Amino acid sequence: MIETLSNTVSVQNQLQEIHASLKLERPEIGRIAVAIYDEQTDILKTFVHSTDGEAPFSHYEARLNQVPSLRDLALSHDVRVIDDLQIDGVSGSLHILRLVQTGYRSSYTIPFYDHGRFFGFMFFDSSVVGYFSEAVVRHLELHAHLISLLIINEVSRVTALRSAIDVARAMSHSRNEETGAHLDRMARYARLIAKALADRDPGDAIDDEFVEYVFLYAPLHDVGKIAIPDQILLKPKKLSDDEFTIMKSHVSAGMGIVESIATGFNVGSGQHVEVLRNIVRYHHEAYDGSGYLEGRAGAGIPLEARIVTVADVFDALTTERCYKPAWTNDRAFDFLRDQAGRRFDPDCVDAMLGNRRRAEHIQTQFRSNNRFHEAYTEEL
Ligand code: C2E
Ligand code: SIN
Ligand code: SIN
Ligand code: FE
Ligand code: FE
Repeated sequence: MIETLSNTVSVQNQLQEIHASLKLERPEIGRIAVAIYDEQTDILKTFVHSTDGEAPFSHYEARLNQVPSLRDLALSHDVRVIDDLQIDGVSGSLHILRLVQTGYRSSYTIPFYDHGRFFGFMFFDSSVVGYFSEAVVRHLELHAHLISLLIINEVSRVTALRSAIDVARAMSHSRNEETGAHLDRMARYARLIAKALADRDPGDAIDDEFVEYVFLYAPLHDVGKIAIPDQILLKPKKLSDDEFTIMKSHVSAGMGIVESIATGFNVGSGQHVEVLRNIVRYHHEAYDGSGYLEGRAGAGIPLEARIVTVADVFDALTTERCYKPAWTNDRAFDFLRDQAGRRFDPDCVDAMLGNRRRAEHIQTQFRSNNRFHEAYTEEL
């Protein structure tokens, strides 16, 4: 399903390689996970993990303040060894319970920092009670350091690229009624769909990192509208054929913007830029091949673009545009259902239909149209 990602090296793959080489000497270490922290929302969530066999959690996410044991580590810069999760595990911690259920018995937790700012945690888990002796812990120091550099580097690259693109985004939407609220909503619909697909995906081919990048980059699908003249973009009526032809060029204009920014920031490769590229390039393709620009079909359209299409159209339908009134939710959901397999990937439609309550919650939460800057900086 995510064949499109296979030719890029994700942080997930790199972590798996580090884990594999570590296991040559320390086969007892069955799992390494990295969770990163977002100061603004106080949310700690899994970024990548490498796990032998069944993963104890999929897509772990918690408020740091609600996990006092971890919060204390973050503040104190201490590491933590738990020799027997079954006995010493912080009582009431659901994820420790899950670790035990999947066979893990001991764990080693390291908070890591970038220029003194708390960045996240690394978790090493073993099925052997008392595995993390002083010697093992010392041995892991180097690997832990390597992993923290890898993660910090990746996240900083994403942040740099994103801040550049924020500028383009702000410009493209400042003269458009498609304001920040639309982007906030559609990014969350996209994440909802991606998460639902990930939860359903038995092979764990859709990882947390992917879900995160879809969320991060979905709002940029229309950066290329910056190149569309006002008299077309803001026309209060139906576009003529010629005007629509010009309108379609927002896709290639967007591709150009992404390329120049990616080159400027020296982030031309890597999974995250690929996700961004695909979203911009393919967000108007249709599942049956009737879309633009290339007329790709089915799995030939990268998954991230299939997801964003459903999110974008749903929000375009349910809100007022300069050229159309808002549809009711019932009508919009009917439209998705009707177009499943034609316009849209049926799996993405199912994910949206199956999460109608959550989608409607997003809709009410991000109803206002004037929280552009606020809402956008809130998330990372
Ligand atoms: P957008 O407003 O963000 O809409 C995104 C997509 O949502 C559209 O892509 C279309 O697939 C879907 N959509 C929006 N409104 C409707 C609707 O009333 N009925 C149906 N069936 N689908 C709808 P599309 O068509 O490729 O258009 C791309 C962009 O072109 C739109 O982005 C909008 O900015 C512009 N556009 C499209 N039609 C018109 C129009 O008649 N007048 C003006 N001024 N702009 C238009
Ligand atoms: C996960 O892999 O989803 C959980 C992350 C953790 O170890 O807390
Ligand atoms: C883990 O070791 O994967 C997480 C356990 C914890 O939160 O302490
Ligand atoms: Fe578009
Ligand atoms: Fe849009």
